[in-house]
Amino acid sequence: MTRTVCVNGDYLPEGEAKVSVFDRGFLMADAVYEVTSVLDGRLIDFDGHMRRLERSLAELEMTCPMSATELLTMHRELVRLNRIDQGMIYLQVTRGNPGDRSFLFPDASLPGTVVAFTQDIPNLADAPAAKTGFKVITIPDLRWARVDIKTVQLLYPSMGKMAAKQAGVDDSWFTDAAGAVTEGTSNNAYIVKGNRIITRALGTDILHGITRAAVLRFAAEAQFEIEERAFTPAEAQGADEAFSTAASIFVMPVVEVDGKPVGTGKPGPVATRLREIYLDEMRKAAI
Ligand code: PDD
Repeated sequence: MTRTVCVNGDYLPEGEAKVSVFDRGFLMADAVYEVTSVLDGRLIDFDGHMRRLERSLAELEMTCPMSATELLTMHRELVRLNRIDQGMIYLQVTRGNPGDRSFLFPDASLPGTVVAFTQDIPNLADAPAAKTGFKVITIPDLRWARVDIKTVQLLYPSMGKMAAKQAGVDDSWFTDAAGAVTEGTSNNAYIVKGNRIITRALGTDILHGITRAAVLRFAAEAQFEIEERAFTPAEAQGADEAFSTAASIFVMPVVEVDGKPVGTGKPGPVATRLREIYLDEMRKAAI
């Protein structure tokens, strides 16, 4: 089945979908995005993703030519047309096509470009990796200083994924100048010590994960203590457990950091339980 994608409100076969070479998303990475997961053909935490999209747009003085209602309709239509049971929807909003290359922002009245497409991942909830856990290496965080804005500047995270692949592991966690973990290439990072879940506090140096917010809420409800502070790779190696969260992996146990096992070296009970709670609760609330 050919995938149907959406460009500026038009539903097209993926091979016919086109964006201008002058689009600022293409030339300047002047664009923001969201990834929303789909389970049972329904959207997970869609409102959370739309709130963050609004924030990213506002931080960059961009506007989206589609309303929240239109974006919801588009997401649902893409799920329907592509018969997605489990998978993800990628949404990108760019500053548009000013008709030439210039470092200056075009006039604010220029409509942005909106592109969205589905990714069909039938075993998203039952990902085999969740049973074995991720192994990670740490690398310096060389991204720009406003990674709280979800821009499409993903070259360095992409290099981080390649570094992980070359090292024979699953992901890279970034470390700041002080040697503390910021986050993963495309996920937030956590460690577990006894009853405490430790994760970096929100700031401009990490993305404010939508999964993070939900998982911390569920963890607090399940009587875990939440400590929002930085931790080092060495502290992670000595922790009981570690895990990462994102819309693409939900709660993913992390079993090795820089070649050293975390805890037993297997997915731990806390990460496993939080993954179950997250999937149960979010499936119930999906729209
Ligand atoms: N990435 N940190 C970074 C750098 C991310 O790119 C992501 C998400 C997260 C987790 O955010 P959320 O829980 O809202 O998905 C944290 C998406 C999934 C991606 O780029 O594919």
